[in-house]
Amino acid sequence: MKKLLTVSVVGCGYWGPNLIRNLRFLPDCRLKSMCDVSEDRLRHLRTLYPEVAGETSFDTLLQDAEIDALAIATSVKHHYPMAKASLLAGKHTFIEKPMARSTAECAELIELAQKRGLILMVGHTFLYSPAVKKIKEIVDNHDIGDIRYISARRLNLGLFQKDINVTWDLAPHDISIILHIMGETPYSLNCRGEAHITPGIEDVTSMNMHFSKQRSALIQSSWLDPRKVREMTIVGSERMIVYDDLAPQEKIKIFDVRVERPPHYDTFAEFHYAYHYGDIYSPYIKQDEPLKTECLHFLDCIRNGIIPITSGQKGMEVVRILEASSDSLKMKGAPVDLPGAQNPAVAKGWFSNTDAPWNNGGVSAGTPAATPAPAGRIPEKLP
Ligand SMILES: NC(=O)c1ccc[n+]([C@@H]2O[C@H](COP(=O)([O-])OP(=O)(O)OC[C@H]3O[C@@H](n4cnc5c(N)ncnc54)[C@H](O)[C@@H]3O)[C@@H](O)[C@H]2O)c1
Repeated sequence: MKKLLTVSVVGCGYWGPNLIRNLRFLPDCRLKSMCDVSEDRLRHLRTLYPEVAGETSFDTLLQDAEIDALAIATSVKHHYPMAKASLLAGKHTFIEKPMARSTAECAELIELAQKRGLILMVGHTFLYSPAVKKIKEIVDNHDIGDIRYISARRLNLGLFQKDINVTWDLAPHDISIILHIMGETPYSLNCRGEAHITPGIEDVTSMNMHFSKQRSALIQSSWLDPRKVREMTIVGSERMIVYDDLAPQEKIKIFDVRVERPPHYDTFAEFHYAYHYGDIYSPYIKQDEPLKTECLHFLDCIRNGIIPITSGQKGMEVVRILEASSDSLKMKGAPVDLPGAQNPAVAKGWFSNTDAPWNNGGVSAGTPAATPAPAGRIPEKLP
């Protein structure tokens, strides 16, 4: 029988209750308490989960020796101090995205977790979604050829944040997905944006990231759009993928289209681009709740000493990009270099589960990163 792990969730606002719901019903996990400074929020959650204790004091959780792990779903400014206190109290720690407000804060948390032999995991939920896993599998199988660029749009009306801009709020999801698909971090980026509603807090931004081999990624983030949009297009040299996370079915469509230059031509009259228009194919994707998979993975990492797919290191790479985007915004979109990003060791670190300095070979064969799903290749001839 697996060891029963005792977990508590801090922050019962918009997102925390989703963690609570999942952790409450997972086997081999006991959700001991839910913590929020708001009595109202706790009262509401106690009506849903009367058997789970409600706490207004974070310190009470820190001092509770029964609690093995804490999941922190408060606003970003609390992530670093709370995660630090949690690790110092000897608890495995899950932090919602973005991991912290700076790479310096992230580095300190990573070092602390490493020294204390504790699991530190970040809530980059989309890496646990079946659609993103499928895209990664298709790209890694080279079924769309070489990636040329990725564009992502994450738009909606609100929710306006007071302490972070729209890039820090919405783009962490796209950044984590893009780094995962590209398999490396960018060497440079630039970001432009405007603050229309709250002075000094950009509500519409556009970020360009530049990767090796002439690849790039564009992320548009907005709190000022009438429609909710969650779309990503991955353009390959052979085929292209459109991922619509809001589509109830057929979240991924693969377009068998490409453009080629003629290999040889002597006169301008002979020059013609070759446009290939083929079929559109939508692979079957079994729907599982990504957050449930993420919570299961956190527990698995604790039990088996596995480095999480979305480890502190991965969380820090996202924060490094967010920091650079803020620097670029201040310079009206000037490019910002990301030192060290072209270092193959750093680039490899985004998707390898074995390269963290504190890894002691504890990667279990059961982790998704260690055992990629069987190849589901796109049929050569579409049905
Ligand atoms: N993974 C995802 O898909 C996803 C989705 C949405 C939000 N998030 C992340 O979840 C985190 C929380 O976002 P949210 O929208 O739920 O914020 P929120 O403001 O709705 O909730 C935060 C809660 O934390 C509580 N809180 C503040 N200080 C506290 C303290 N000292 N002790 C205990 N509780 C305290 C607040 O009272 C509030 O109820 C953010 O980091 C956000 O980026 C992740």
